[in-house]
Amino acid sequence: MSLSPSTLELFDQYVIPTYGRFGVRLARGSGCYVWDEDGREYLDFGAGIAVTSLGHCHPRVVERMRRQLGELVHTSNLYYTRQQGELAKRLVEIVGAPGKIFFCNSGAEANEALYKLSRKFGNEANGFARTSSGNAAGGVVTGGNSNPDAPLRRGIITMNGSFHGRTLGGIAATGQDKVKKGFEPMVEGFTHIPFNDITSLEDAAEIPGTVAVMLEPVQGEGGIYPVSAEYLRRARALCDRHSLLLLFDEVQCGLGRTGDWNGWDTLAPDVKPDAVSWAKGIAGGFPLGAIWVSSRLVQMRNGEVKPLCDVLGPGSHGTTFGGTPLICAGALEVLSIIEDEHLLENARNQGVYAVNALRALQSAWVREVRGVGLMLGIELVADFATRGGLPAGKAPSIYMVERLHAEGLLTIPSGTHILRWLPPLNVQTADVDKAVRILSSVLASLPSL
Ligand SMILES: Cc1ncc(COP(=O)(O)O)c(C=O)c1O
Repeated sequence: MSLSPSTLELFDQYVIPTYGRFGVRLARGSGCYVWDEDGREYLDFGAGIAVTSLGHCHPRVVERMRRQLGELVHTSNLYYTRQQGELAKRLVEIVGAPGKIFFCNSGAEANEALYKLSRKFGNEANGFARTSSGNAAGGVVTGGNSNPDAPLRRGIITMNGSFHGRTLGGIAATGQDKVKKGFEPMVEGFTHIPFNDITSLEDAAEIPGTVAVMLEPVQGEGGIYPVSAEYLRRARALCDRHSLLLLFDEVQCGLGRTGDWNGWDTLAPDVKPDAVSWAKGIAGGFPLGAIWVSSRLVQMRNGEVKPLCDVLGPGSHGTTFGGTPLICAGALEVLSIIEDEHLLENARNQGVYAVNALRALQSAWVREVRGVGLMLGIELVADFATRGGLPAGKAPSIYMVERLHAEGLLTIPSGTHILRWLPPLNVQTADVDKAVRILSSVLASLPSL
């Protein structure tokens, strides 16, 4: 199809070039497949970037959204809508602990809500309330520990290699220098420590003024690195000891991607965070972000004791579009389909199948294959560029992603040496076989060592 001006020309002239885009111009999708403007077919193993969790245009989602479009799209958050209330209930059930939900539009925005929750907690509370069950959730308050003169706490600990979004808060929180460059000065208050390193966490938790620890249970943009179960348990214990919030960024690894509703459940189901952020797959492709905040009791500096989920009170935070009836209806349908079609189980099974098939390739170009559910990382060997004679300045991950595009497979690069496979949760064995075949033939076509 020849459009005039071409799509590339439109972008060149009118779209701010914040993205290094690949040359693919996509026009339509169905299930695990997308087609470009010329009708060329691609197997979509990126799913946006872990977003279209049911693939493209699932008939039940299309039907539900059509119906909602004809009923009510937007009302503002000045009023109540049934869909937002029901979605909040569903998300609280998914976490499996009492709490409440705030809705927004993206992952970065969901994380902003976590930073603001941390600031409020550090500025206006002394910590968790003392209760009959230590300071765990659900206990009866046994005695005041309020102290209006205690030092304020504002420091948030995050991890090297993390990614938390592109807002000013998000880039300050993110543990990668490349996202910060040119945007200095950074928002204050973030300390970065090595990922998965318990000693560093123990040291950082002692830093005066620390209020929260934030981490991705499985680092996504960083290259598919899960945190250990032991680390999560230790982080929980340390946060309890120092009255710090334990915040999980589940924007990429949450809501089914790891083969469980919660990424942390795949790693250490006995650990519960104090708050969680979601976006990406939550509504299967419609823009929605959300946070869950625990109802654990906190001791306010003014003597009041209240649930953590009520610390962000009326007027403290908001967003025009968060939680519209249209998007919430879509998200409710997406979550129901994941359940009805047993897609958590499918994500677990297909993930194991894919890792085994990729490892069986035994390619000399691949350093490691790792995966948690359908978060798969294929790390290329460190000297890929020199051995493969790549054009100067081209990262091996980008080179491989482009080669795979040419063979009809969409995947996502991570850093310079990692390919990410993040297929829809309803991916089938035949699709995995096809993707492995394409990768295998591209690897086989590289110059022999
Ligand atoms: C773990 C994590 N947090 C936050 C974000 C930011 O989400 P968004 O791009 O929706 O703002 C991302 C995006 O890749 C992510 O992977």
